[in-house]
Amino acid sequence: MRMVDLIAKKRDGHALTTDELDWLIEQYAAGAIPDYQMSAWAMAVVLRGMDDRETTDLTLAMAHSGAMLDLHDLAPITVDKHSTGGVGDKTTLVLAPMVAAAGLPMAKMSGRGLGFSGGTVDKLESIPGLRTKLDAAEFRRLVREVGLVLAAQSDTLAPADQRLYALRDVTATVESLPLIAASVMCKKLAAGADCIVLDVKYGSGAFMHTRDEARQLARTMVAIGNGAGRKVAAVISSMQQPLGRMIGNALEVREAFGALRGGGPPDVVELCLSLGVQLVRLAGLRDDDAAARALLQDVLASGTAWAKFCQMVAAQGGDVTCLVDPDRLPTAPVQIALPAPQAGFVAAIDGMALGLAVNELGGGRAHKDAAINPAVGLALWAKVGDPVYLGQSILTIHAATRAEAERVVPRLLSAYTFSAAPVSPPPLIEEIVS
Ligand code: URA
Repeated sequence: MRMVDLIAKKRDGHALTTDELDWLIEQYAAGAIPDYQMSAWAMAVVLRGMDDRETTDLTLAMAHSGAMLDLHDLAPITVDKHSTGGVGDKTTLVLAPMVAAAGLPMAKMSGRGLGFSGGTVDKLESIPGLRTKLDAAEFRRLVREVGLVLAAQSDTLAPADQRLYALRDVTATVESLPLIAASVMCKKLAAGADCIVLDVKYGSGAFMHTRDEARQLARTMVAIGNGAGRKVAAVISSMQQPLGRMIGNALEVREAFGALRGGGPPDVVELCLSLGVQLVRLAGLRDDDAAARALLQDVLASGTAWAKFCQMVAAQGGDVTCLVDPDRLPTAPVQIALPAPQAGFVAAIDGMALGLAVNELGGGRAHKDAAINPAVGLALWAKVGDPVYLGQSILTIHAATRAEAERVVPRLLSAYTFSAAPVSPPPLIEEIVS
């Protein structure tokens, strides 16, 4: 087979066969297909799509491009979670210790920033010293000893996705239902969890812009997971505005600390409870939503979820003094307020514009090997529905320099829409697909 022929076949709108997809992924994982050809193919998929059979074949080929973990010798049931990506999404940092504290071991491989959205690994690495690159032996040891591990995708687990994910980040090929479904599900299948909850986001701050697209993506991923013998539920959640108030790596870690310590923005806590309820139900720990929610509320209120998070940070080499003094996390030297350009009610916030502004401040990557600045980001003081007066600070820009902060101001202002009449905030959870 020749890669150029497969690119042309997809460019012309035809479905690739199972053999062709197996070959393509095997060759890419082996380094025999160059990134420029893979980018061209990914763009053809973005433009032409894939049918369900191709999406499943691509997922399985990517899952089998590396090791397939089996954690059953460590725990009878393990759980996992994945988000399709959104602006200000720090749910893993809160949800994972919650469910682990409730007694469900969480062994999660997370990603770095993707397009305009951040990634859990970049967020975690803003805790000085915290290691996310763990070998298989350490990953397994932490599942056994801590019951919670948040790691970067190892080189041996779904390596084809690891390469393709980094490539999609910088080639404008993220926004594709089959590529997202395959990328998410290949990692979940390879990481070996029995029960998986998916946070499928839609809206301006997500890769799926409409609820129908999100529903389609959720159904596709649930079907792939069920087909592979896993219990899967998907929560369709709104990204019609960023989640919580902080956007940017270290800022989001601080906000997650708050949520785990009994504070934190209500939308972050509510989304984590809703996702957690699905995992507790799938794992059979409680058999109705109210009891599952009560269990999770209890681990938050009693401090056991926070204690589990602290244990994980220590076990992965993170500086535990940051846990007692979050001011030790990376902090941007320049912080300037953005005044509201008019009085009224915040009617809409374009999450993608804010995510791109954070990337421009240095919080995301412009090319594959770029370093990021964990300290930069945005703190939002007004969200959809909030009344504001002229000149009120609607957000604070955290930047490396004043010039960099000023450069993103037009983008930030264009992200906000105001209304003279009161506005209701969009609902957070739209639907559960299971
Ligand atoms: N998360 C992933 O792991 N992959 C995607 O493509 C999008 C979100």
